[in-house]
Amino acid sequence: MNYEEACQKLAAIDQLHVLKFYDELTAEQRADLLSQIENTDFSALENCHKGGTKRGEFAPLGALELPEIEEKKEYFTQIGVKAIQEGKVGAVLLAGGMGTRLGSDGPKGVYDIGLTHPVYIFERLIENMMDVVRQTGTYFHLFVMTSDKNDAVTRAFLKEKDYFGYPEKYVHFFLQKMAPASDYDGHVYLEEKYKISTSPNGNGGWFTSMQEAGLTAYAHEQGIEWLNIFAVDNVLQHIADPVFVGATLDSGVSVGAKVVHKNAPREGVGVMCLEDGRPSIVEYYELTDEMVEAKNEKGEPAYNFGVILNYIFNIHALETLFKGKMPCHVVEKKIPHIDENGVHIEPESPNGYKYEELVLDMIHQLDTCLPFEVEREREFAPIKNRTGVDSVESARALCEKNGIVL
Ligand code: UTP
Repeated sequence: MNYEEACQKLAAIDQLHVLKFYDELTAEQRADLLSQIENTDFSALENCHKGGTKRGEFAPLGALELPEIEEKKEYFTQIGVKAIQEGKVGAVLLAGGMGTRLGSDGPKGVYDIGLTHPVYIFERLIENMMDVVRQTGTYFHLFVMTSDKNDAVTRAFLKEKDYFGYPEKYVHFFLQKMAPASDYDGHVYLEEKYKISTSPNGNGGWFTSMQEAGLTAYAHEQGIEWLNIFAVDNVLQHIADPVFVGATLDSGVSVGAKVVHKNAPREGVGVMCLEDGRPSIVEYYELTDEMVEAKNEKGEPAYNFGVILNYIFNIHALETLFKGKMPCHVVEKKIPHIDENGVHIEPESPNGYKYEELVLDMIHQLDTCLPFEVEREREFAPIKNRTGVDSVESARALCEKNGIVL
C-alpha cells in the first residue's frame, strides 16, 4: 500500500490522524506504518458507539451435576480414555491475553507462583496434562495461541524449559489477530509515531486463527475430532479430562462446557443458559433481578452454573455451524499512547476502548451443549489479580488444598 492509498483508506473511516507524523519518519518506519494500515481490520471500531450486542430471550439450562457424574464416572472415563488413546482429542491453550490485571511484564504463563521453588503457570498446566498422559499412556497434541505481544517470549520460554517434559512434537503455536485500540470517539491511538496501538482481539478468535495457521487441517490429518479449549490462568485446570471427554462424547452434543455452582447470585462469571432456544452464556452483568431470583423445579437458583473457560468443541460442528462472525465486546481499558505532540502517555485510569471477541459467544452458534459440573475447589483457581479475589494468593491457597507443593 502506498501513501495515497493509505490516505484514502483512512479518510473513509475518519482516521487520517494516523499519518500525522509521516513526514518525520524514516523510510523503514514509513514502510512499517503503511503495512500496518494495510493489514489492520478497522471494522471493530464501528462498535464504539453501538454499546452491547442485543440479546435474545433467555431461559435456564440445567447441567450434568456432580452426583450423576459420580455415578457414571467409570463409564464416562472408559469412553474418554478410549477417545484420547485413539488420538481423537487435542487441547488448545489460550495464552494470547495481556494479563493487565496481574500487572506482570511477561506472558501470564511464565509467571512463577512458587513459594519454596519455582512453579511457573505453564509448568502447572503441563503437569496437569501429564496426569492424563500417565492415565491413558498417550500424549495428546497441544495447540498454543499467542499474540504478537507475547509470542516470542512464550516460545523461547517453553523451549528453554524443554516444554516441562512434554514432547516438543506435540506442541504447536499459532498467532491470534490484533485489533486497534481507540479513544472514546473511536479514533485509534498511536503507540509510536509509526505504529497504531493494537491489542489482542480477544480469545474468541482462536478457531479462525487456528484455521488460518493451517492447524485445523493438521488436526484432521492427525485424526483429532475434539478440541479442549482452556485458559492459561486457571492453575487447577484439568485438561483433556477423560470423564469430561467421555460425558461430552456420550451425550452427542457439539460442545461440552465445564461449569461450577456460582458462589454468589451475582458472581462475576458467565452463566450457562438458553438464548432463543439455543445454548448460550449470559454475562453476570446482563442478569436481570428476575433471572437472579428465578428458581428451578428443585427450588434452587435457575441460573446457577458459571463457566470456567474449559470447553470441548467438536471440530466438525465448528466447521459446519460456526459462522465466524462474532459479537464484538467493547471493553474500557487503560491504553498507553502518544499524544498529538508525540509525547508518550501512560494513563492511570481508563482512557478508551479495546475491541474483543470472546470464546463464550461461540457456544450460541452451536446447536447443543452439555454443561458439566465440576467441584470448584478442585478445578477452579483462576489468577487474574496479584492479591484478593482470583489472585496469585487465592490460587496458591487452592493449590495447597489440593496437595500441590509450591
Ligand atoms: P482474560 O479475559 O482474563 O484476559 O483471559 P487477560 O488478558 O488474560 O487478562 P486481563 O483482562 O488483561 O487482566 C482469559 C483467557 O483468554 C486468553 C487469556 O490468555 C486467558 O487464558 N486470552 C484473552 C487470549 O488468548 N487472547 C485474548 O485476546 C484475550
